Amino acid sequence: MKRRSFISAGIHAGAMTAMISALPLPTLAAGVRRYAITAAPAAQHLGPPDRPATSLWLYGGTSPGPLIEAWRGEELEVEFLNNLDVPTTMHWHGIRNLNAMDGVPDLTQAAIEPGARFTYRFPLKDAGSFWYHAHNKGWEQLARGLYGALIVREPDEASGLQDITLVADDWRLDEDYQLHEDSFGSLMDWSHQGRLGNWLTVNGATDPEIPVASGPVRLRLINAANARTLAFRLASGAPMRIVALDGSPCAAFEVETVRLAPAQRVDLLASFDEGLTILEEISTGDAIGAARLVGASQTTLAAGRTIENRPWYDRPDTAGAHVIDIHMQGGAMGNLESALFEGETMPLRELAREHSKLWAFNGIVGGYDHRLADLALGDVAVLRVRNDTRWEHAMHLHGHHFWVNSREFGEAGRDVLRDTYLMAPGETADLVFIADNPGLWLFHCHMMEHHAAGMGGVISIS
Ligand code: C2O
Ligand code: CU
Repeated sequence: MKRRSFISAGIHAGAMTAMISALPLPTLAAGVRRYAITAAPAAQHLGPPDRPATSLWLYGGTSPGPLIEAWRGEELEVEFLNNLDVPTTMHWHGIRNLNAMDGVPDLTQAAIEPGARFTYRFPLKDAGSFWYHAHNKGWEQLARGLYGALIVREPDEASGLQDITLVADDWRLDEDYQLHEDSFGSLMDWSHQGRLGNWLTVNGATDPEIPVASGPVRLRLINAANARTLAFRLASGAPMRIVALDGSPCAAFEVETVRLAPAQRVDLLASFDEGLTILEEISTGDAIGAARLVGASQTTLAAGRTIENRPWYDRPDTAGAHVIDIHMQGGAMGNLESALFEGETMPLRELAREHSKLWAFNGIVGGYDHRLADLALGDVAVLRVRNDTRWEHAMHLHGHHFWVNSREFGEAGRDVLRDTYLMAPGETADLVFIADNPGLWLFHCHMMEHHAAGMGGVISIS
């Protein structure tokens, strides 16, 4: 088995890393859970410990950033300080948030300038696996490490099931284990799949060793990569039971391999024996060691623990729904000849060369001023998205989850509620949602380079 790296193998690393949740947190009397998080340059050993640490931009000095844990029903308050020398914002991915707290610069707030502070405060309506990340020049700021996990638990989830959060990323490193900076903004990446890395980490380390007690475990997997769709399996071939997608519980089903597009999350139930269980990443066709789960003998599972499998809400009836057609075009080997950009129709060649724009929705290069729809509060809406490109896209809607008949788990299709949907080339999908959250909400591809190069627009709900 090849280990650790998409490009090289055989370097030994043995970091002991885990983001095992601490003991249950007491609920604060006031119902407000406070964190203070600073973004700043910092270094971390992404590669083997005997190699140079990688210079990154990090939240709280660690990759991933501090694990934020709270209970559903609480308010989360994050006092953010920007100690980077570029403006930034924080976005709370998957949270059905207050619009003003959504963290989209120039749309829901002004970017937070270097040295400035901003307090995010919002109610946690849903339990689930979420994450937070920078949302200004995400194609660079995520690739430099600005993200972390946000786990919200059910109030009655106080005991029993082991709960392990695994945040995966692929980094593009050079021989000195530093970020490959020259390729930031590469049109080759932007017109193809996006910025793919060459080094896999889980929880900021290479093939970390993660202690687990034997017995059932909830694994929360988060893909924080800019562009790579990761694929995980247990080396033993043992099945994993999917119990939640993008935070929302789903009707449980079993898989041997789970693909995870950028920004997607999956909660898996797996059972571990004493000894070593290897989690592998296989998206390249080679099996790379992602994490080593080391089982101890005692069982910590409390009797009678059950997992809630009801999605947050049922699929709404779409008779009379507001249909929003989105024709996605562009990229390498595509059929986009020209598109409207800043009020002017330009050939793709000029868009690419002069403006680094390569993708369009309905013939318009997307930006925060590209209004896709105006909905009334309470409308049932269908985003009818047609992927008329040669590439997969991870389509994400802010502020809402949508129902989709997903082809991600096989051609038969499976109705799931999620916030990021991986579309195949040529696929048309209906993303069905209730427009119950007022504000201006982005809809974009979460392959960060695609978003930057035009795959985005705004849905207004009022
Ligand atoms: Cu994960 Cu526009 O966001
Ligand atoms: Cu895309």
